Amino acid sequence: MSETKKLFIKTYGCQMNVYDSERMAANLAAQGYEQVGAAEEADVILLNTCHIREKAAEKVYSELGRLKPLKTEKPDLKIGVAGCVAQAEGQEIITRQPMVDLVVGPQAYQNLPEMLNRVDQGAKVIDTEFPVEDKFEKLANHAGMKSAPTAFVTVQEGCDKFCAFCVVPYTRGAEVSRPARQVLEEVKQLVARGVREVTLLGQNVNAYHGEGLNGGDWSLARLIRALAEYDGLDRIRFTTSHPNDMDDDLIAAHGEVKKLMPYLHLPVQSGSDKILKRMARKHTRDAYFRIIDRMREARPDLALSGDFIVGFPEESDQDFNDTMNLVRRVGYAQAYSFKYSERPGTPAVDRDQVPEEIKSARLAELQELLTQQQKDFQQGLVGKTLDVLFEKDGRQDGQLTGRSEYLIPVHAIAPQEMKGQIAPVTIDVNHRNSLGGYLGPVKT
Ligand code: 5AD
Ligand code: SF4
Repeated sequence: MSETKKLFIKTYGCQMNVYDSERMAANLAAQGYEQVGAAEEADVILLNTCHIREKAAEKVYSELGRLKPLKTEKPDLKIGVAGCVAQAEGQEIITRQPMVDLVVGPQAYQNLPEMLNRVDQGAKVIDTEFPVEDKFEKLANHAGMKSAPTAFVTVQEGCDKFCAFCVVPYTRGAEVSRPARQVLEEVKQLVARGVREVTLLGQNVNAYHGEGLNGGDWSLARLIRALAEYDGLDRIRFTTSHPNDMDDDLIAAHGEVKKLMPYLHLPVQSGSDKILKRMARKHTRDAYFRIIDRMREARPDLALSGDFIVGFPEESDQDFNDTMNLVRRVGYAQAYSFKYSERPGTPAVDRDQVPEEIKSARLAELQELLTQQQKDFQQGLVGKTLDVLFEKDGRQDGQLTGRSEYLIPVHAIAPQEMKGQIAPVTIDVNHRNSLGGYLGPVKT
């Protein structure tokens, strides 16, 4: 037996990267790699990177710069780059930063143990292939992982939609859904380990069409309805969805499946039909409104979240105003907004760009409105009693932190034994990004 090696993984980007990092750690644990919390203690450092915007992608090079003295001090230290920058840039990463030993794209993680063996023998190893074999079969094992009350489970990966701004179809590849059997088994394993809430992940999660249990394809709604049958699993969430894949059954499920949480992340990106067309979103602003209206009919207390891009090429003041009035009409509980960032290889790169200072001004205006809406949504919860799944210690002594049905973090004084339990909390404070409350119903 070789001695234990110490592995440090730093994760950037989306929740799917968080899931992937956990899977890589579990897979390598079986090969004798123990996960540590600091780069300084590690024999192997993996950066699991994001390529969605230029700023996200550049982070990997600043981090590599910071790691350089460690590598000089400890020449045996191995440094790997995983994730979407690895997929997009491949060899280029080693050319720019020769101390990198390994580059691995998201579809090749099942090969990591063998790749690390080759690195140990002094090779530089790059794998950005899209293999036909099923990586999830090899990576789905959760044994040995720290147990927690919530977990992510990837059910779908990749994207065939090719929005004009987006790298995902290139970094994560074509849309693939995992067979329902695999997902059900993985969730069963998680529930046995104490998980009470799962978030089903996919870049286009509501386009899920995995092989069903008795032949034929299952939709996301069908999968959710099957998972809702599991005793011990109390909450189901999913992210991220595309408006065009919100089918009737998925909308209906929000009114019928108690375990499906009243929260929907449904990016629209822009409120202007002209820009939506140029983004190749394949839906209009009215189509988006219709879905939101139907979702609210099915689940009146739904909390909505979205993604917005400002300053997409050729966005005029009028187009931006259309985004602002879409936001006013919908009313978001929470949202993400970004300045358009040119991504190499995507269709929008060679178009007329909006000047940086206009992008910044529009982003500030949009974020002010979204922040106000978040504040208002949270204020509407003050005085109400919400079910909270307690996950971890809060910031103050004696406090625990968990999430409400609406995904907003809630802090309350609660005993340690309540970690992993769902309990009613009456909200009495609205913080910026969280709520505070006390255990139990409203005190009169
Ligand atoms: N520039 C800015 N934001 C982007 N997003 C995706 N690509 C870009 C880009 N090139 C945003 C979208 C997407 C979220 C994950 O990131 O809003 O929904
Ligand atoms: Fe970033 Fe998209 Fe890759 Fe997630 S899938 S890490 S958001 S580029």
